[in-house]
Amino acid sequence: MLTPFSLHLVFLVITTFITATISGATNYFQNLTTISFDEGYIPLFGDFNIYKLDDGNNVQLHLNPYSGAGFISSNYYDHGFFSAKVKLPGFHTAGIVVALYTSNADVYPKNHDELDIEFLGNIPGKPWRFQTNIYGNGSTSRGREERYSLWFDPSKEFHRYSILWTANKIIFYVDDVPIREVIRNEAMGGDFPSKPMSLYATIWDASSWATAGGKYKVNYKYSPFVCEYTDLALEGCPVDPILQVPDATASSACSKQDTLPEVAQYAEISPERRAAMRRFRLKHIYYSCCYDTVRYPVPPPECVIDPEERLRFKDTGRLKFGGSARRHPRRRSKNRPNSSDQADM
Ligand SMILES: *[C@@H]1O[C@H](CO)[C@@H](O)[C@H](O)[C@H]1NC(C)=O
Ligand SMILES: *[C@@H]1O[C@H](CO)[C@@H](O)[C@H](O)[C@H]1NC(C)=O
Ligand SMILES: *[C@@H]1O[C@H](CO)[C@@H](O)[C@H](O)[C@H]1NC(C)=O
Repeated sequence: MLTPFSLHLVFLVITTFITATISGATNYFQNLTTISFDEGYIPLFGDFNIYKLDDGNNVQLHLNPYSGAGFISSNYYDHGFFSAKVKLPGFHTAGIVVALYTSNADVYPKNHDELDIEFLGNIPGKPWRFQTNIYGNGSTSRGREERYSLWFDPSKEFHRYSILWTANKIIFYVDDVPIREVIRNEAMGGDFPSKPMSLYATIWDASSWATAGGKYKVNYKYSPFVCEYTDLALEGCPVDPILQVPDATASSACSKQDTLPEVAQYAEISPERRAAMRRFRLKHIYYSCCYDTVRYPVPPPECVIDPEERLRFKDTGRLKFGGSARRHPRRRSKNRPNSSDQADM
């Protein structure tokens, strides 16, 4: 039974927890060097839908009936920490994809590498969902999707989304919570991204597949859809994407073997953050390639099967409870604004 005293204690514990989480989030990124748009990025497409505010420390990408928009880092990085605070458009988000991802498909069209955070819109009135994915050396026939809900409404305020990529580890972060960790193993072979990549940020119309398999399309009555970015960060060694040697702007600390300290600090997950990751995954994951035994009778080699996480899914990879609207993720040919919809799953 809860006595007034124990209630008070519960309250105290909750407030302490919330405070700790928030201050933890601030501290965790205190060493992150943020840069303005002009210091690190160039427009990718839809230039007229890119708005730089606050001396380029805030960038808006618009999606209207004419075009989406995107920007790309001017450098390629041999490993790194890629991060931005993002505020997504709200209300009617069906059919819209907002993506923050690293890729080198422009240099290696046949055997590119890619790390994705993709927000997939949702049916009207429902919150955004998102997925992470990994491709290495052109492994586009082996999607490594995971899909999740969030514990907040990403259209209400800025949250930090980050991709850590070292020679042997990939971690996706939402704020200071690591949500997915992939440790390289031998069996992955070329599927682990290994060639220099640049960072992309895009918003575009993916009506044909993004929301409930294309059932809900972008409704331009609500346009422009505005996605805002701030506190952009790029930590890593800028390299020539073909020669794969440090370029002229690289710091002297950059050598093939080293992980920069700025990057390394995000590669180690403390026990507290590991617990937060597990809490996130037990509550918010609703698809994982690791549990989809129809698609992958043998899970991809990097999968670490968590029995409790596994319990969330049927053998088909579908969620057991409350996942009625879920369907198999589809793979399209590329993260290109007007790529054809290639449903090969
Ligand atoms: C920030 O960098 C300093 C010096 O490298 C280090 O001692 C400190 O732990 C870092 N802080 C965080 C939160 O990582
Ligand atoms: C990557 O793909 C290229 C071309 O298909 C191939 O020659 C190379 O051996 C592959 N590298 C790895 C690490 O698998
Ligand atoms: C879409 O594709 C066409 C032709 O394939 C190309 O000319 C155009 O630039 C592309 N648009 C975007 C937004 O990438």
